[in-house]
Amino acid sequence: MAENIYEKYGNKIIDGKRIAAEYRAEIATEVAAMERKPSLAVIIVGEDPASQVYVRNKERGCAEVGMTSLLYRLPTETTEEELLRLIEHLNADSDVDGILVQLPLPSVRDGGSGIDEGAVIAAVSPEKDVDAFRAENVGHIMLGDAQLLPCTPAGVMVLLERSGVEIEGKRCLVIGRSNIVGKPMAMLLLHKSGTITVAHSRSRDLPALCREADIVVAAVGRAKLITGDMIKPGAVVIDVGMNRDENGKLCGDVDFDSVAPVASKITPVPGGVGPMTISMLLRNTLTAARLRGKK
Ligand code: GUN
Repeated sequence: MAENIYEKYGNKIIDGKRIAAEYRAEIATEVAAMERKPSLAVIIVGEDPASQVYVRNKERGCAEVGMTSLLYRLPTETTEEELLRLIEHLNADSDVDGILVQLPLPSVRDGGSGIDEGAVIAAVSPEKDVDAFRAENVGHIMLGDAQLLPCTPAGVMVLLERSGVEIEGKRCLVIGRSNIVGKPMAMLLLHKSGTITVAHSRSRDLPALCREADIVVAAVGRAKLITGDMIKPGAVVIDVGMNRDENGKLCGDVDFDSVAPVASKITPVPGGVGPMTISMLLRNTLTAARLRGKK
């Protein structure tokens, strides 16, 4: 499939894999010039298969740019107290620049101990919060002076910028209102002077909202929700979704086959936003290291 779409729509495809690799090469050059390498601690609790893949990719990303990664694998039944103790230890470790706790944490139904995600996010020291999940960092995103950027939305901004997409004055539709993607995405687009609408599961007439948009960012987690008939001809379509279709194949929130002929630019899944998210995590780890005085 992958070869196929690049042959058919090559001029329209925003190649996240290529742009993320270029971006990583730039980070690697900066890291190579440092005396003390940035270091990222990644914590994973339990056995969620998707999380295992994400965490492995984060480790690989660190290795690629010459950063140190420390992986902490904790059993499903880990208690909140145990997890908070590890975070405290990493907060105090002067060599650790970034701390990331992979979400979601195991639910009680899956054998988890019922760890409170909010408490875990709040436990990571603000200057090591490379996910930019803490309230302080979310506040800086809102103010437009954030040093640590939300990884997925910041990755989308790089994809748009490096594909020559103008945002100023454009109608931007963000579909999804999560704290991780939808809300910060809307802010970053707003800071670039887009006119922003945020749609969500209660929005009326999503197709009509879509048809008005010059830039659509889909981040809802519903396989192939956005179809070609909903897209204004020439619109730019960014697909943050990571779903499985009816055949168990990886797919986005956008129905690529019907949208690609209508859009002027589109990100594929896989190979679009995903690789860029990890590049932005590496960027945040480098930023955190510099803010903490590493040279
Ligand atoms: N799970 C899915 N996306 C993310 C992310 O960006 N950060 C963390 N920590 N967990 C995630």
